[in-house]
This record gives sequence, C-alpha cells and structure tokens, in this order.
Amino acid sequence: MLRFSVRSTRQAVQRLAVQQARHQSTNSTAAGSSMSIKNMSLTAAAGVATVGAITYLSMESVDANMAADGLHPPVYPWDHKKNLATFDHAAIRRGYQVYKEVCAACHSLDRIAWRNLIGVSHTEAEVKTMAEEFEYQDGPNDVGDMFQRPGKPSDYMPRPYANDEQARAGNAGALPPDLSLMIKARHGGADYVFSLLTGYQDPPAGVEIREGLNFNPYFPGGAIGMARVLYDGLVEYEDGTPATTSQMAKDVTIFLSWAAEPEMDERKKMGMKAVTLLVILTGLSVYLKRHKWAALKTRKILYNPPTPKKH
Ligand code: HEC
Repeated sequence: MLRFSVRSTRQAVQRLAVQQARHQSTNSTAAGSSMSIKNMSLTAAAGVATVGAITYLSMESVDANMAADGLHPPVYPWDHKKNLATFDHAAIRRGYQVYKEVCAACHSLDRIAWRNLIGVSHTEAEVKTMAEEFEYQDGPNDVGDMFQRPGKPSDYMPRPYANDEQARAGNAGALPPDLSLMIKARHGGADYVFSLLTGYQDPPAGVEIREGLNFNPYFPGGAIGMARVLYDGLVEYEDGTPATTSQMAKDVTIFLSWAAEPEMDERKKMGMKAVTLLVILTGLSVYLKRHKWAALKTRKILYNPPTPKKH
C-alpha cells in the first residue's frame, strides 16, 4: 500500500516535470518568459488599480448627496421580518382597507387577484362580495360581442386608470407606480414606504418646491408628485383600532409587504420543517458513521517483526 503510493507520487512528479519542459519549449526564448513576467506584473497592477478605484467610488457613494438620494429611512422592528414570525394578518386586513379606500384611487395592484385575499385577510364569502362590486369586461359571447359582468375571485384587482397616459394626466404628469412589488422595488423596502407615507413636512428654509410637487425628505430629490394622503381618522377600522396616520401607514405597508411576497409565511414554515429534518438527519448520519466505523477505528494493529534467523 505504502510502496504503491510512493510510486504513484513519483510518477506524478515525473509527469509534471515533462509538462514543464514542454511548456518551456513552446515559450522557446528567455525573452518570452521575461515578457510573460512583465505581462503578469501589468495585469497585477491593473487589478490593484481596479480594486482601488472601485473602493474609492463606493466610499464616495456612502456620503453622497442626501438631497439627491433621499434621506435613508430608519430601520423599524417589523414583526414579520423576524425569522420565526408570520405576517400580522389583522394588519393585512386593515392595510387592505387603507389601500382600497385611499391608495387605490391612484395606484394599481396588478399582481394581486381577489382570490389571493382568501384565507389571508378575508373569508371566501367576503372576497366574493368584494369582487362583485366591480364590473369586468369579458367575452366575446356567442355573437362575438364583449360584455360587462360582475367580478369573480379569479379576477385581478381593478386599475384606477385605463392606461399610463390617463394616470399621468390625472396626477400633474407624475405616474403613480403599481404597488404590487413596491416593497421589493425600493431600497429600504417597508422602512422606506412607511417613512415616505409619514415623512411629509414643510420644506426647510431655502428649499424651493415646484408648484404641484410636495416636500418629502425620504424621496430621492426631496420633491414628490404624490401629496400627503394619510391624515388621522381618514378611515374607520372595523376592529376599532384608532386610525392614526402612523397606524394606517404601518398597516398599508404590511399589506404591501404581503402583496410583494405572499409566499412568506409558507416559505418560513417550509424552512422550519427543512431545518428540523436536516438536523435530525445530520445527527442520525453522524451516529451511523461512527457506528459503522467503530470496528475499524477501535482495532488494534500489531506488528510482529520476524525474528531474524540465527545462522
Ligand atoms: C392622488 C393620487 C395618489 C394617492 C391617493 C396615492 N398616491 Fe402614491 N403616488 C402618486 C403619484 C403621482 C406618485 C409618483 C410620484 C413621483 O414619481 O413623483 C406616487 C408614488 C408612490 C410611491 C413610490 C415612491 C417612489 O419611491 O417612487 C409609493 C410607495 C406610493 N406612492 C405609495 C402610496 C400609498 C401606500 C398610498 C396609499 C396610502 C398612495 N401612494 C396614495 C399618487 C398617489
């Protein structure tokens, strides 16, 4: 066994030497090899310069212009961000109410269908009646005409505007973006949306805000096309929660967090199952490995040198 491995390493060393010799013969002259060293040092210098430039540039962007990039939102202790926590479903229900009564006048929620709310914030019967309050175009029917019918749970949330041009025209040129993935689309996510909704204030001295725009330090540039929309007591919650501005902002942010990631609860449950199972299986396989190897690991190897024969 030992002799065999010594031989095979020796063979490997010989093979390496042959390869090196071949490589040198292709690089025939000494100048060739000195060129490659020069190339290498050039490449290394370029690499160092690139890393340096990237570090310098990224350091620059840290203290970049706050007015241009927006005030960084504080980090809020959202319950649903904890590893073992689900969404607060009562908050999703309240948040839906805020979306429907306030935001839906300007913002679409294209990726959410009525049925998505079933079992999350509303019962099936509630969702059916909510969907039926809207008319959807369907068809064509037997004679080829499109017709209007009441909504079904399989329909997607209705849009406030027929197209982007109409949306811009209704908002002094600013396009209210779709809110389905807003939490994922913005740096800071839920913290940003909450800060944006609660961050409206008078512009500080010396800051000019154009007619039709509003000052909000969290919005990049500081001037946002959306006016402050949440005011204390704007909606009346059915569960009796006082509808303060921050409460509504929190609820609608949780609703939008759910809309951006409806699978979160399921994902965490799955993760917990997977981790539990893997811990058990790891324990079992460690035990099994030790069990199987026990005989080999505890064996005693004796070497009895042959006694030299006396002549
Ligand atoms: C009167 C119409 C109107 C209402 C109501 C409204 N918004 Fe807006 N919203 C806008 C417009 C217009 C913009 C685009 C602003 C811009 O780009 O300057 C916008 C932009 C946004 C943005 C994106 C900001 C960004 O970083 O680009 C978010 C988030 C948002 N609104 C959330 C909400 C929420 C949540 C509600 C409900 C509580 C709401 N809006 C209600 C008109 C509205």
